[in-house]
Order: sequence, then structure tokens, then C-alpha cells
Amino acid sequence: MMMPEKNMTQKGVFDARVRWNRQITGRFHKLALEFSGPGAVAMSQCRPGQFVELDLGAAALPPADKIPGELSDCAGQNLLLRRPFSPCDITKEADKTLVELLYCVVGPATLRMTTLSPGNTVSVIGPLGNGFSVPASKTTALLVAGGMGAPPLLHLAKTLTTEHPQMQVVAFAGAKTANDLPFEKRLDRIAQDLGFSIQEFAKFGIESLIATDDGSAGFHGLVTDCLLNWLTEHKPLANSLVIYACGPEPMLAKVAEITRQKSIECQVSMERLMACGIGVCQSCAVECRADGSNETIYKLCCKDGPVFDVSKVIFKS
Ligand SMILES: Cc1cc2nc3c(=O)[nH]c(=O)nc-3n(C[C@H](O)[C@H](O)[C@H](O)COP(=O)(O)OP(=O)(O)OC[C@H]3O[C@@H](n4cnc5c(N)ncnc54)[C@H](O)[C@@H]3O)c2cc1C
Ligand code: FES
Repeated sequence: MMMPEKNMTQKGVFDARVRWNRQITGRFHKLALEFSGPGAVAMSQCRPGQFVELDLGAAALPPADKIPGELSDCAGQNLLLRRPFSPCDITKEADKTLVELLYCVVGPATLRMTTLSPGNTVSVIGPLGNGFSVPASKTTALLVAGGMGAPPLLHLAKTLTTEHPQMQVVAFAGAKTANDLPFEKRLDRIAQDLGFSIQEFAKFGIESLIATDDGSAGFHGLVTDCLLNWLTEHKPLANSLVIYACGPEPMLAKVAEITRQKSIECQVSMERLMACGIGVCQSCAVECRADGSNETIYKLCCKDGPVFDVSKVIFKS
């Protein structure tokens, strides 16, 4: 049985320096945080699927005309709690570590995040939780991202390429519509015909397929149907395959059904609202099956996850 990778890294509270922060498209932005000293050492060990908690309470609000109408009511809220983010990239430099976060502006904290500028300091706790693991016997990895599920899978794509170069990796990214895809820009028609739709995966030589519910880009339909089509067409041996998924819960439930029916090992990164992020407040329960029985137990997304073996998670139908 495949287990998510246990967090053996030394976590801590570190001050990170903003190196850059830019909008990539629509509501999606990327923030690069630079860590020095003990923070650089700790963050260099952050594995794909682990997360960090940012204190954004001191970040400024954007000017009123830059606040989207739907966020105008909540924009001014005090931010008492840190917010969790899974890095989409980690780069070790001489004596620093650069951590990139891909974020979507959905509320007061992510709105304030957009105003962080080079030289600003942010308090970060991490690396937290347990990340993805790569079973030795697998030769093909399929990455399935729904909407904002992309960041930990981008980090995983880089790690698979550098640490498991012999593995075949294919990425699937789905969203309701093309504007909800959190990527910089799609590649041209020739690259797409060759199976390389997304630049962020193509730079690692990883094929990628896009699915949109409304057909505005790539496959017209759910990303899980796109995955099923790929499995039907390529017929990989189930025991040579591992699937990694992150995205909305109905998508993860569908991935769970597919992988159960086809006996494919699968790890999913779950999302819960998190108050403490370190296993104290019990606010992030995930309903799971106990080992060796049908009994229901509750695990903590922040401490036992966020990556879980999909066969252990009980999804609401
Ligand atoms: C382990 C983990 C990793 C994450 N990684 C990323 C990432 O890489 N990039 C990114 O953009 N976001 C990520 N998120 C989600 C991110 O933490 C939230 O979007 C953020 O906290 C929103 O803060 P806010 O104040 O802007 O909005 P809020 O007002 O806090 O939230 C806006 C809306 O989103 C909902 N929401 C917020 N967080 C969650 C959640 N965890 N699960 C379900 N619904 C939620 C709220 O209920 C509310 O309706 C991650 C969450 C978790 C648990
Ligand atoms: S967020 Fe507090 S226990 Fe998980």
C-alpha cells in the first residue's frame, strides 16, 4: 500500500523576503518568496504537496478601484488567521531558497497578497503536512489538476523530472472555462497537436492535456472524462501507474471511483479550511476509512495530509 510521504523536514516560522509578485492572467498571480539562513534550509526540503502558512495581516489593501466588486464587502476584514498555500516551485540557490506560490484572488487575504512588493517581508510557517510519494515500482505518473489544484502538481512535475527522469509523466488540467485555467499562456497549435498544451509542464518535457466544461479550450468536458479517454486509448498496465490529483472535491471523488474500478494507485491532495495548520484546532477533519476495517475515522488535513491515499478517503456522494 502506497503511503503519502511523511514530513521529516524541520518546520519553523521564518521571515521571507518578496522577490517578485506578478499577475499571470485574470485572478491568478505568482509570488516569489526568498528565504535565507535556517528558513532557506527548511524550505529547500519542502516536498511537493506540503504547504506553508502565510501571515498576510500586515499586507496593504489595493486601492478601491482595484478591488473586484464581489470582494468589496469582505476586503477590509481583519486577518486573524494565516492562510495555507502549496508551493508550485522551489529553487535552491547558493545560500537562499526561492519558493513560488501560484495564487487565486478569492477573498481578503489573497487580495492583500497582490500588493506585496519586492523587499517586503512576510512571516511564513512551514513546510507543513505530508506530501506526495513516488512508489519505486511505477513507470508512469498521471497528474490531474482541477482549477486551483495545479500548484502542488507543478512542484511534483519538476521533482519527478529531476529525481525520477525515467518516469513517463502526463498532466491533465481542467477548469469550467479557459479563463479559469491558472497558467501563463497556452502553447501554439503545433505544440498542442504534439500533446504539449501548457508551457509550465512542457518546460519539463511533460505532455499536458486541457479540459474545459464549456469547450472553450482543449477537450470539451470534465477533466476526469479526459483522463478516462487517455486510459482507454493508451491502456497502461494498472500496476505500473500512479495517479496524483488535486482539485475540487467532486473531481477527486470521480478520480477515486476511476482508480478504484481500474485498481490504480492514487494520492490526492485535499483542501480544508485551516485555522492553525499544525494539528491543534481540529478544524480540518477529513473522513477516512480505518486500516483493516470499515470503521470511519477522522484525520486532520493539515497534519495527516493534505496528501492522502485516495482509497482511505470517504467522499460525500
Ligand atoms: C493545503 C492547502 C493548500 C492550498 N494551496 C493553495 C495555492 O497554492 N493557491 C491558492 O490560490 N490557494 C491555495 N489554497 C487555498 C487558499 O488557502 C485559500 O484560497 C485562501 O486561504 C483564501 O484566503 P482569502 O482570505 O483570500 O479568502 P477567504 O475569505 O478565506 O476564502 C474565500 C472563499 O474560499 C473558500 N475557501 C478558502 N479556503 C478554502 C479551502 N481550503 N477549502 C475550501 N474552500 C476554501 C472560503 O470558504 C470562501 O468561500 C490552499 C488551501 C489548502 C488547505
Ligand atoms: S488546521 Fe488546525 S488542526 Fe488542522
